[in-house]
Amino acid sequence: MSALAAAVAAPRVAAPRRASETRAVRASRTRVAAMSPSMPVAPELPLPDFLREPFKQVTERLEEALPADAKKQVLRAQYTSAVGLRLAFFLSQGVLSSRVSGSSDIDGAAAAAAIVKAVLDPEPRARVPDADSNLGNIVRNAADGRSLSDAEAAEVSQFLEQHLTCIVNLFRDELAHLEAGAYKFPYDLNPATAPASQWNPVDVFALSRDTLSDQSNVSKRRDEKAGQELLETFAPDPERYPAYYLQNFHYQTDGWLSADSARLYDFQVETLFLGSADTMRRQVLPYVSTFVREHHAVNGGEDGAGLNVLDAASGTGRFLTFLRDNWPAANYTALELSPHYLEATRVSNKRFDEEPKTETNGTLTLVEANCECMPFPDASFDAVTNVYLFHEMPKEARRNAAREFARVLKPGGKLFFVDSAQVGDGKYLGMEKAFDQALERFPQFNHEPYYRDYSLTDLNALFGEFGLVAEDGDPTVAWVSKCCAFTKRDVDDTNTAATETATVTEVVEPVVVEDADEAAQAR
Ligand SMILES: C[S@@+](CC[C@H](N)C(=O)[O-])C[C@H]1O[C@@H](n2cnc3c(N)ncnc32)[C@H](O)[C@@H]1O
Repeated sequence: MSALAAAVAAPRVAAPRRASETRAVRASRTRVAAMSPSMPVAPELPLPDFLREPFKQVTERLEEALPADAKKQVLRAQYTSAVGLRLAFFLSQGVLSSRVSGSSDIDGAAAAAAIVKAVLDPEPRARVPDADSNLGNIVRNAADGRSLSDAEAAEVSQFLEQHLTCIVNLFRDELAHLEAGAYKFPYDLNPATAPASQWNPVDVFALSRDTLSDQSNVSKRRDEKAGQELLETFAPDPERYPAYYLQNFHYQTDGWLSADSARLYDFQVETLFLGSADTMRRQVLPYVSTFVREHHAVNGGEDGAGLNVLDAASGTGRFLTFLRDNWPAANYTALELSPHYLEATRVSNKRFDEEPKTETNGTLTLVEANCECMPFPDASFDAVTNVYLFHEMPKEARRNAAREFARVLKPGGKLFFVDSAQVGDGKYLGMEKAFDQALERFPQFNHEPYYRDYSLTDLNALFGEFGLVAEDGDPTVAWVSKCCAFTKRDVDDTNTAATETATVTEVVEPVVVEDADEAAQAR
């Protein structure tokens, strides 16, 4: 095992009380879901047909024969090399992007030194912030380009160092889940199963180039605080696009409404979060895993068979790919307001529709609609997933969406929710001050008009109003994201007011997209 792998797998520091409680809750959740460690899939070799079956059997036998410890070593080595590469790649992108935007000038070497220190530190400090942790100045300028004094630069750099340590800890948490078998080794971290374009230098270069070239437009909008460009092209129409939706969130070009925006989105998000966004999303999978196992324990079947799952605001469909990779037999519906992002969902999920299809493979239905008013009958889904949407909605729209999630869920069904962490959540990571500062700075830097209000929202009360009851225990705070699960109460004990509101919700005609080209022409 490499030194890197050993370090990432090393035991943790004695964490503050709250944080260790959180881990205990997570550990028990993992135990329920645990099977055997999730081994990465072996590469498919170009073998003649007559050797394929024997090779498959040898690989399977070898895997069975390997002691659990040896499997863990293989898993650690592969995981740490994959995320190490990913972190290094997106750190370079982040540095380039900071140069293009010409404002804050990130020193890549100082940032890399902070990451290496966090990786090699057997007692990662971000859980217990260390006032003397500064390694050197990671940035010398403020976001507005102003030069920082030495004292200010040291303070900002220390803040960044703590957050970089959190990213390393996030990967440690994911590795623990993989070792416990809570979910599968992510398909895109394994060259044997990742989409070919992810390893094609020409494709990667094109994405990187286009993202960087768009960065100067993004920076210009940021400087001019121009987050409303879309209103020059689209008029708000409550039937189609509500006013809040027609904004350049993150100052991104075209907002949500172009194919270019959808093409660059994941790359931009991963650059912003240094390659950790998918891992943050996946921290809700242990909750899903427990739910699916409990479903099969009662109803039989496997791999999600018999479950109807809605991913509301699916974006480019990345989160769905992880759901489908783990539970391929469930039937999925992706709902999105942007036709371009919905098309991206279709493309990113193609692999599951084209791969050797078995009779048990579930389906994917694409629906273009607003999640404040969804075109589905009451109680039509066993689970709803919703990732990174609520921080981009005004209060009333959040309430509408929460009510809709409750309405379309069957009694006993689950809402799996991932969004930005909120004010005060730093206590779960042992760094309240640096955490709340990050939440305060984020909307200043990105166009996020509803972020502050979201970050102060009581989610349990918001969902609770509509009969969605928070799962016991603390939420999972995964660096700057939080994951939680809610259960739809049985009809008998659902709050009457919520039920009344739900039944008057108009069910609009669905736009079920079979083929994006046809849908675009029809429009
Ligand atoms: C920040 S992205 C998150 C996308 C995806 N879930 C992810 O994990 O990346 C927000 C997405 O929500 C969609 N969206 C925003 N408001 C919506 C609404 N009212 N109904 C449906 N989709 C909406 C946007 O088009 C965009 O794709």
